[in-house]
Amino acid sequence: MKDQLEKLRKDFLEQMASVPDKEALEAMRVAFLGKKGSLTALMKDLKDLSPEMKKEAGQTINQIKSEMESSIDKKFVDFDAVEIQRKIDCQWSDITWPSEPVQGSVHPISMVRAELEELFISMGFEIIDGPEMESEYYNFNALNIPADHPARDAQDTFWLRNGMLLRTQTSPVQIRGMQSRKPPFKFVSPGKVYRNEAVDASHEHTFHQIEGMVVDKGISVANLIYTLKKIVSNIFGHPVEIRLRPSFFPFVEPGFELDFKCQICGGKGCSVCKQTGWVEYLGCGMIHPNVLKNGGIDPEEYQGFAFGGGIERLVMMKYSIDDIRHFHGGDLRFMKQF
Ligand code: PHE
Repeated sequence: MKDQLEKLRKDFLEQMASVPDKEALEAMRVAFLGKKGSLTALMKDLKDLSPEMKKEAGQTINQIKSEMESSIDKKFVDFDAVEIQRKIDCQWSDITWPSEPVQGSVHPISMVRAELEELFISMGFEIIDGPEMESEYYNFNALNIPADHPARDAQDTFWLRNGMLLRTQTSPVQIRGMQSRKPPFKFVSPGKVYRNEAVDASHEHTFHQIEGMVVDKGISVANLIYTLKKIVSNIFGHPVEIRLRPSFFPFVEPGFELDFKCQICGGKGCSVCKQTGWVEYLGCGMIHPNVLKNGGIDPEEYQGFAFGGGIERLVMMKYSIDDIRHFHGGDLRFMKQF
């Protein structure tokens, strides 16, 4: 029995030294310690021994058994560690690898905004940015709209607790733009604006405008009309009927409103054009002398024109979208069309 046990131990250690993987290890465990395993068989033989020898051999068998068990367990852990390390080694990163394509789609407003920027850059305009949280001064006062002016009521304002407001128009960028550059210049500034008003098919509380400004010597209404006609035909890529109506904005004089023939209904009347066949698009006019002064420009020396209009309406015309609420609706069926 003693010799058999010694041989078993030797066999076990030999096989253990060269066991290649977890499967072979499991097979070894069965072969030595399983119900029909060689050590188990020797344990069964114990009953034939004398009580004294039984005691001694029993102790040896138990010792060998626990040695085998713990060395098998340890080997399993070793195999696991090698496997984990191999997985880690596979997870290297190649930072020169091309990035994943962008998931989802570009929002139609971002698409048209990018097109507008490209168009204005091609016409020699600078693209500038302005803050969405504005002061009362830039959003109103500097634009010739004092506190008691009725024009403030036309743009229901979201006031903030810090005394600032969410800009109701992109026009404050006119003042910021003038203050930070010397004439002659021309720039546009697209961005978000906010108005605290009831939402319907053609009104949103959060929407986009693009503001434009041209300042130089000897600028007149003729320059304004010529430039806006060019811009509108470039935007649509085909001739669109427009009309210019006299209108009032405190920061321009004279002021106009530019309307398009509705591209949704072709002028017959629909919810977008409120059954009129025309879509009010741009506010525009010659920059008021007070506004030039607030921008640090001498109105005796320089003149200019400014314009500002919503981007949503343009997108709606372009893609025949009949409800402005789709833009912020978050409906994937809408988004996936672009
Ligand atoms: N800011 C005006 C609006 O939101 C539009 C405008 C811009 C009018 C520039 C004239 C000149 O309605």
